[in-house]
Amino acid sequence: MRHGDYQSDSQSKISWKVFSIIWPYLLEYKVRVAIAIGCLVLSKAASVSGPFLLKHIVDGLSQEPTLALLIVPAGLIATYGFARFSMIILGEVRDTVFGRVTERAMRRIGLQVFEHVHSLDLDFHLNRRTGGLGRDIERGTNGISFLMRFFVFNIAPTLIEIGLVIGLLLYNYGIAFAAITLTSVILYISFSTVTTDWRTKFVREANSADNEASTRAIDSLLNYETVKYFTNEGFEANRYDESLQKWELARRKNRLSLLSLNGGQALIITLAMTAMMWLAAHRVTEQAMTIGDFVLINAFMVQLFMPLNFLGFVYREIKGSMANIENMFALMDLRSKVPQNLDAPSLQVSRGQVRFEDVSFQYQPDRPILKSLNFSIEPGQKVAIVGASGAGKSSLVKLLFRFYDPSNGKIMIDGQDIALVNQTSLRQDIGIVPQDTVLFNDSIIENIRYGNPHASDADVGKALKLAHLKSFVDELPEGVETKVGERGLKLSGGEKQRVAIARTILKRPPILVFDEATSSLDSKSERSILSAIQEISKGHTSMVIAHRLSTIVDADKILVLDHGSIVEQGTHRELLNLGGRYAELWSSQLRQRE
Ligand SMILES: Nc1ncnc2c1ncn2[C@@H]1O[C@H](COP(=O)(O)OP(=O)(O)O)[C@@H](O)[C@H]1O
Ligand SMILES: [Mg+2]
Repeated sequence: MRHGDYQSDSQSKISWKVFSIIWPYLLEYKVRVAIAIGCLVLSKAASVSGPFLLKHIVDGLSQEPTLALLIVPAGLIATYGFARFSMIILGEVRDTVFGRVTERAMRRIGLQVFEHVHSLDLDFHLNRRTGGLGRDIERGTNGISFLMRFFVFNIAPTLIEIGLVIGLLLYNYGIAFAAITLTSVILYISFSTVTTDWRTKFVREANSADNEASTRAIDSLLNYETVKYFTNEGFEANRYDESLQKWELARRKNRLSLLSLNGGQALIITLAMTAMMWLAAHRVTEQAMTIGDFVLINAFMVQLFMPLNFLGFVYREIKGSMANIENMFALMDLRSKVPQNLDAPSLQVSRGQVRFEDVSFQYQPDRPILKSLNFSIEPGQKVAIVGASGAGKSSLVKLLFRFYDPSNGKIMIDGQDIALVNQTSLRQDIGIVPQDTVLFNDSIIENIRYGNPHASDADVGKALKLAHLKSFVDELPEGVETKVGERGLKLSGGEKQRVAIARTILKRPPILVFDEATSSLDSKSERSILSAIQEISKGHTSMVIAHRLSTIVDADKILVLDHGSIVEQGTHRELLNLGGRYAELWSSQLRQRE
């Protein structure tokens, strides 16, 4: 499990590298960014002017009312209203205009990562929790959006505003007010960052407990049938509750630490405000200041500390966002173990000859799966591969499709080494009906059309018939529009395999591979499928992996694979005459059928 590693966490340092990642996306919309910054500056100006207007209104009102003095405050009040409105509306306009920039960046980066992840090798995907991967991408793109919005429009402007206010206080009221403000802001920021860093471990604990609980719940629900088979509902509930209990405890610590953060912040703000007001009140009694000045200082303080209140949160989130973005880009740094040279020539299939030359392969260093395989499939031939489960038959197919590279030797198609040609062209020329077909959670027809998204309905219909799916589909109330469920779980094994065959028929590749394509069929459907396979592989080079030998007696060549080596090869007749492994298998299967 890799959850919890990516929580917002202030352990990672603020990383400036992330800005170099984001920068180009800001440049993509120069005008929008400029407008947003313009709005920002104007709205800050409006917000800073507020307290000054307030001061003049209050001062105006504290004098003896004359007609002129009544008109002036009225005008000022209107201006004050206008300033407040501008401040808010400019902020909204800024977010609206800038939204496009963040969303475009999220879209671009999301797509880039998605494409990259698809380009990584099968091994990477087998070792990875797809859910966790999705979460990485989601967290990363959200991090980008957060960072763009908050750094540009929260942290930076708040710092500017603080500077502006301190300057104005210094200019209008002297050093004391400016000094108190500056000290309290520094205190506030240091307290918030230190406390936030300290709190992070509680936040992280709560998040990982939360992840654990939800993983448990999902895993348990995915295994719904197994839970019922073993009547383990109570056991599952207990395990889930254990995780929930951890979460509850972690949240408690989290809440208490939040209390100390918020309490400390409030104390600093209150002390500063009280000191400022006390000082201002003193000046008013000395008549060095007006009531209006008193109001102005109070208004500034309120205005200043409000955005600071978010600072603890924003600080933590920004650090978290940076960690998430870096995580996502660490993914981008991964390289496929099956490298693709983009300038590689396309595979040119003229006749469709496949040769394995001294091919060895292993998934893990000390466990060889295929050992120095040598064989060839001549153009248009049908070659069968038989052997016990685990002999390495499917692995051989994975090598041909270049999900992995052999550790030794090479695989040639029409004289071209498949490691040296464009992967897309290689895969376009090979059609595979895999051993375990997994379908998209979509309708039957869309799953078949996946073999060739541009195929016409007539072609799909033809493939449906060839794959002997017609009678099955006709029985369904919703026909070809029937949804197959997650991973195709609503179809039986044989039905799924037939969908896979129909898909491959639509793809029409010159080289065909069937990996135990009829293993989950009863003998009647098997016969009809076999005739379909025969029909579509006519004139094509094909490789048929079979469990039941009766299905491959007509093969041009049969290879018997045992523990990764070819122990016998020849036609059905030849191998029977040889009286070896194949003959033994054949007679035992014959006995079974009788
Ligand atoms: N991704 C993998 N990582 C490690 N071992 C694997 C992997 N895939 C298959 N194997 C192992 O390789 C051996 C051959 O598997 P496979 O080619 O699927 O056999 P077959 O198709 O002949 O039944 C098996 O013992 C299996 O456990
Ligand atoms: Mg297999």
